[in-house]
Amino acid sequence: MASTTPPLLASRMTLANGLTIPQVQLGLYMMSGKEGTHSIKEALSLGYRGFDCAQMYHNEKEAGQAIRDYLASADNTQGLKREDIFYTSKLSSNKTSYEAVRRSIKGSVAASGLEYIDLFLLHSPYGGKEARLTSWKALEDAVEEGEIKMAGVSNYGVAHIEELIASNPRVPPVINQIEVHPFNTQTGIRDTCAKHNIAIEAYAPLARALRMKHPKILEFAKKYSCTPAQVFVKWSVQHDLVTLPKSIRLERMFENASVDRFTISDDDMAALDALDERLVTDWDPTEAP
Ligand SMILES: NC(=O)c1ccc[n+]([C@@H]2O[C@H](COP(=O)([O-])OP(=O)(O)OC[C@H]3O[C@@H](n4cnc5c(N)ncnc54)[C@H](OP(=O)(O)O)[C@@H]3O)[C@@H](O)[C@H]2O)c1
Repeated sequence: MASTTPPLLASRMTLANGLTIPQVQLGLYMMSGKEGTHSIKEALSLGYRGFDCAQMYHNEKEAGQAIRDYLASADNTQGLKREDIFYTSKLSSNKTSYEAVRRSIKGSVAASGLEYIDLFLLHSPYGGKEARLTSWKALEDAVEEGEIKMAGVSNYGVAHIEELIASNPRVPPVINQIEVHPFNTQTGIRDTCAKHNIAIEAYAPLARALRMKHPKILEFAKKYSCTPAQVFVKWSVQHDLVTLPKSIRLERMFENASVDRFTISDDDMAALDALDERLVTDWDPTEAP
């Protein structure tokens, strides 16, 4: 494996609030604390700067510790500082108690030990309208008080996005993190978010490795001399999505970010878009009441 940093790992997208976000980040779901500690260190050495965590992943403490340890270690030859890292966490469940949400956010900041969280998301729309909008108010105040730098949502469907925008938020959401890959393209939610200047983070961008042997994926991997996983990642990058491929293996972390060498043609992007089968790899709260 080459030791150079894939250039894509330095790429950042500018969000509606003027702040930037690394376009490729390491997802931390289904990583034990131990795996997270190890993988984050390796990812930082490779050049990953963004990490997607959540209260529900039960590894916030280890993730924050791994980042802090790396920054303080001799491995940090580039002299990276906290502000060079982008760390996300998510509220496990929306609540009708504003104070409970504020406490929960402070708990995540404390668990990470990172002083602040770059992006904090409502993990899902579950809980109903009152809980969603109350939780959002708590996020707005957490932004204003510097606990978090920016606020967003996850698994929000069209109706949830419209509901939040209609509430005239003081701090508009900058991100909606949803499942997106060629087998679940989510064009309806993506179009609605584009209308409101909300960027999309693609979770399960590799379709959880469930379609690596699909004939079209294999055909394009051959055509572009890349791996099936790289077809998936490149598709999400060319659609201007922030993408969160997860791996606990160093060689795959490198592979997943090494997609600068080729460009998928417009026709082939359309052929990949056409693979949509609304494949849900984990959960789908986007239609929740
Ligand atoms: N907001 C939400 O509700 C939500 C839901 C799901 C996920 N997420 C976020 O999105 C991230 C990614 O989603 P995900 O973890 O569900 O799925 P994913 O990134 O699409 O796929 C991960 C799976 O693919 C395997 N893999 C990784 N690189 C590979 C490669 N180059 N070749 C073959 N297999 C490869 C991984 O195994 P190894 O680890 O063994 O390599 C793992 O089994 C999560 O970690 C999390 O941060 C958010």
